[in-house]
This record gives sequence, C-alpha cells and structure tokens, in this order.
Amino acid sequence: MLQQHSTSTDRVARARSKRPRVINVGDQTIHVDDCLTVLAAMPEKSVDVVVTSPPYNIGLKYASYDDNGSRADYLAWLKDVALLLKRVLKDDGSFFLNIAGTSSDPWIAPDAAGAMRDVFQLQNAIIWVKSLSIGDDTFGHFKPVNSKRYLNHTHEHVFHFTKEGNTPLDRLAAGVPFKDKSNIARWGHTEDRRCAGDVWFIPYETIRSKSQRDHHPSPFPVALPERCIKLAGLPSTRNGQKDAENIATEFVVLDPFLGIGSTLLAAQRLEVRGIGIEIDPGYADAAAWRLRERLI
Ligand SMILES: C[S@@+](CC[C@H](N)C(=O)[O-])C[C@H]1O[C@@H](n2cnc3c(N)ncnc32)[C@H](O)[C@@H]1O
Repeated sequence: MLQQHSTSTDRVARARSKRPRVINVGDQTIHVDDCLTVLAAMPEKSVDVVVTSPPYNIGLKYASYDDNGSRADYLAWLKDVALLLKRVLKDDGSFFLNIAGTSSDPWIAPDAAGAMRDVFQLQNAIIWVKSLSIGDDTFGHFKPVNSKRYLNHTHEHVFHFTKEGNTPLDRLAAGVPFKDKSNIARWGHTEDRRCAGDVWFIPYETIRSKSQRDHHPSPFPVALPERCIKLAGLPSTRNGQKDAENIATEFVVLDPFLGIGSTLLAAQRLEVRGIGIEIDPGYADAAAWRLRERLI
C-alpha cells in the first residue's frame, strides 16, 4: 500500500510539462514519464534485474526534478518506489541500488538502504570505488573536496536487494582470474576464475562523447550496470535452461531512474532487453541518442 505524503513526486509532477511518450531503440525501451506511474502499469514479476541510481536529494541541478526535499519525504518516496519494484521483480530477481552521501551528509546512503528494509532483504552491500590510491600511485577520477574536515569522497554504495535474500548469483561472470594459480586445483575449481568480492574499482570513462547532447549531472559508468547484470546471471550463462532464445527475450533489465541511459547501454552491450524510465524528456532523448550511436 503506498503511503499518502507530500513527496518529491509532487515537485516532479509540477515540473513535468511534457506528455508521456515511449521511445524504442532495438531491444531497449524508454518511457518518458514518472517512474511511479510506469511501474504501477507494468506486469507483475516481469523483471529480472533492476539497476538504478535515484536522485540523492542533495540539491543537484536536474532539468526536471527538484533534488532538495525533506529527508522524511525523500525516504518515504524511495520506499514507494521500492514497493513498486518488488511487485515487478521476479521472485529470484535482483535489485541493485547505487547511492552515495556527501561529505557533510554521509547518512544519505544508509538512510536510503534503511528505507528499503521492510520491503527487501539486503543480500550484498557493495562498495563502488571511483578512485584508488595504492602507494604513491592513483587510479581513477573523483571530485576533490576543499576542506579541513572531510576526506575526498572516492566511493559510492551499491546495495544488492532481493526478495528473500537467497537469489543465486553468477559470481564467476563478474569474476577475476586467480592470482595464485595453484589455488585452482587446491580448491577443486574447474576454471581460472574466482569471485571478485564486494569492493568494485570502476573508474569513470575518461573518453566521453564531446557533444553536450548527453550532459547530465550524475551518470554512472556503463561498466557498473554491466557488472550488476552479469552478476545477476545472463540468460546465456544460466544453467539448465530450456530454450535459450525464448529466455533471452523474457530476460528484462529495468532502470526506473534512467538518466542518460547508462543501464540500457549496458543491456544493449550484453544483448538483453532493457526498460528505462526517465521523467526528463531531454535526458530521455539523450539516452535514446546514446543507444542509437552505441556510445559507452
Ligand atoms: C542519479 S540520476 C540517474 C543517472 C543514470 N544512472 C545515468 O547513468 O545517466 C537520477 C535520474 O532520475 C530522474 N528522475 C527523478 N525523478 C524521477 C521520477 N519520478 N521518475 C523517473 N525519473 C526520475 C532524474 O531526472 C535523473 O535523470
């Protein structure tokens, strides 16, 4: 049951002036609308993997969204989204929620995860490292913080939620080769691959399109949703399946806060069907353009 409260969606509804529309690019579908509306109309248990990053409520300048509500309204709205996601997710589906706090407000991510607590089981808590220093060397990029109090913010969270906490994952599809090859035989593995763990170093792509057509304040790198989708288990790597082609068309990736389309670019790259929802027509058009251009 959705709660009655004055949520950020009220602000979104006020900001939204364009009519809803649907854009199709190959196997990828973009709904230009409020995700609460689209999710409520989607069939139950029709989605295998949700990968998304909602607005963080930190006053970012989105084109059609006021990212500055009260914490209580924001969390209540996130819970509404979670309830609708649970309805559309298959019973063995996975929901990856990317979120971060700010230097002055590190509680945002744990609060957001807490808002999901009554709805989903937290199966894995992943740290996405955007920049890492090892010895004197640094890899990846981050936005430096000019402060005497706060450390530079070089990571975000990816919470992996499931319905029962026992969804099998394809750990090796998102795995890495053994460093010490003698471990392969010693531990009875059949291939040179092990689980990569729950700290993921994924830097932002340094080469982005030179165009301003896909300008957005907070996209994640395509490699992030790609890894989540692989971990959830692509149809091609699932064991004991009946008809590979049918399964591939049934397999659905969803991003209810699509932005400029990174999750659908990952789905496109992995040749699976994707559905994205984005309230802002400009970002939705940028996502469609990126899909047509096959940008990463
Ligand atoms: C953090 S960004 C997502 C960025 C995305 N991961 C990417 O890589 O481009 C959140 C997005 O949610 C959109 N949004 C905000 N409220 C929404 C709503 N109610 N329904 C659908 N989209 C919404 C914003 O316009 C913004 O583009």
